[in-house]
Amino acid sequence: MEADIDRVLISRERLAERVREMAGQIARSYPDLDAGLSLVPILSGSVIFLADLIRHLPMKMKIGLITVSSYSGATTTSKGAKLLQDLNVDVTGRDVLVLDDILDTGNTLRLVTAKLAERKPRSIKTAVLLRKTAKAPDDVVADFVGFDIEDVFVVGYGLDYNDHYRNLPHIAVLKPEIYAAEVRS
Ligand code: IMP
Ligand code: MG
Repeated sequence: MEADIDRVLISRERLAERVREMAGQIARSYPDLDAGLSLVPILSGSVIFLADLIRHLPMKMKIGLITVSSYSGATTTSKGAKLLQDLNVDVTGRDVLVLDDILDTGNTLRLVTAKLAERKPRSIKTAVLLRKTAKAPDDVVADFVGFDIEDVFVVGYGLDYNDHYRNLPHIAVLKPEIYAAEVRS
């Protein structure tokens, strides 16, 4: 697996440090620790971010899961993001924090925040580990961002390429021949 990596973009040490800092920012924005936060990680890419982040968060929380797949070429209102499995908990009247691995075109977060708004939560905020600034749209703004990165396809720390590489401990760029092999096959 490591042999498929071209370069490491963000080391595991920098990830750990930044996720801890993000937890501090998040905790400060929800000062009432007993009010209860509903975390909604978007599966599957945000699982490692979720696991590391919540162990630095001091407030009472519940976790609700939602699964979205991104696909290309779609012309629906969700533009390239499709809800595969809707939220499995009630968030009415609660403070909701949506977590995603990466903000790219914004289609995923736009879809998820619209779906959650239908359930009348008290508030909705979003936290993403990575943001590709090249494409970040004006109408989808993340409240908490770990790292701004260049417009390259990255894997590791939960992010996948064809469902592989999620278990790499760092954020990395794959070798170009990995994609090329995929196109040929
Ligand atoms: P968006 O809907 O275009 O904002 O993209 C968000 C989703 O696309 C993320 O939840 C990821 O699953 C996926 N994605 C976008 N860029 C990358 C990448 O560089 N590597 C892996 N997954 C990505
Ligand atoms: Mg994803």
